[in-house]
Amino acid sequence: MKIADIIQSADWKAEKHVPVIDAPEAVKAGEKVTVEVCVGKEIPHPNTTEHNIRWIKLYFKPDNGKFPYEVACFEFNVHGESTEGPNKGPVYTEPFGKAVLKLSTSGTFLATAYCNIHGLWESNKVIKVEE
Ligand code: FE2
Repeated sequence: MKIADIIQSADWKAEKHVPVIDAPEAVKAGEKVTVEVCVGKEIPHPNTTEHNIRWIKLYFKPDNGKFPYEVACFEFNVHGESTEGPNKGPVYTEPFGKAVLKLSTSGTFLATAYCNIHGLWESNKVIKVEE
């Protein structure tokens, strides 16, 4: 058994768990790039005490390298918990994160997301870096 055997993927427009990576198609080397990740862009994912997205991680794998780099890790730690009971609390974190970075080489962003009851999901997006 490997992580690759249990991590799921699909078209994010049809499957609410798939992390969506919003990044430009191409950027200039050394220029600041804003990358957003979220779950539920097309079909909202539930955000309740019982069922929620716990985290999204964003990686970058350069075309000319073997290893991925972890760019950012977003944890979503409150989902309506309260002393009054589940879903009675005042705060629900949305599964959204934004990172700003600079690149020197083309590669692929990869995102993983974790739903507390539907497991691990992944997606990717290629970005071209022009000299
Ligand atoms: Fe779920």
